[in-house]
Amino acid sequence: MIFETHAHYDDEAFDEDRDVLLSSMHDNGIGFIVNVGASLKSTKTSIELAEKYPFVYAAAGVHPNETAELGEETFAWLKEQCLHKKVAAVGEIGLDYYWDEPSHQIQKLWFERQLELAREIKKPVIIHSRDAAKDTYDILTAHNAGEIGGVVHCYSYSAEMAMDYVKMGFYIGIGGVVTFKNGKKMKEVVEAVPIEKILLETDSPYLSPEPNRGKRNSSLNIPYVAQKIAEIKGISYDEVVSTTEENAKQLYRIMP
Ligand code: NI
Repeated sequence: MIFETHAHYDDEAFDEDRDVLLSSMHDNGIGFIVNVGASLKSTKTSIELAEKYPFVYAAAGVHPNETAELGEETFAWLKEQCLHKKVAAVGEIGLDYYWDEPSHQIQKLWFERQLELAREIKKPVIIHSRDAAKDTYDILTAHNAGEIGGVVHCYSYSAEMAMDYVKMGFYIGIGGVVTFKNGKKMKEVVEAVPIEKILLETDSPYLSPEPNRGKRNSSLNIPYVAQKIAEIKGISYDEVVSTTEENAKQLYRIMP
């Protein structure tokens, strides 16, 4: 079964058909979904989805661009959510310098606090990093993040840097971008990274793969991503699906 490691089904884009869509996943070969929190509010709604659907797990965390909402009180609340038994990871956390708000300093502060939270509660991290390759890598290195474990989601940097993350012990999250006609860089990444270190993801409702580019994304599109990875690596579709499922179960410590 396909393990979808990154989706946002609490997004309003799914308000009309969320239940119908999620109920159709199993029949379409999607065995597991991690619904990822990106703010305090979406951490709460992610956990609600995980409580409702046995095959949905949650990640609890605050996205770099939302970190202005964090303070000691909200951070204590977040920590409590992270202890929930269906919270599989702390995330998505990281750095996003594409947007200038909040300041890099504030983003770094809460990235580091959430990293240490993950270490404390012994759960892996889901990293969001955009236009911040060096700072992200430096912070993870400084915090010995290999011991914490995690995935760089929707990976967007060079193949060389991907291998640095792999050496650190991290997984690389591959989604719809690999199917784009201008996705040459991602193809190099998929060539370089061993299949044992790749996770399948969508970032739904965003980043729909070809041939559905531009439309609302859902986990039902993951076969296009898996097929592309199989093509690039010269292995079978089934091997991509089964190996990435094992990878995700290992990272999120989900027993079969
Ligand atoms: Ni996301």
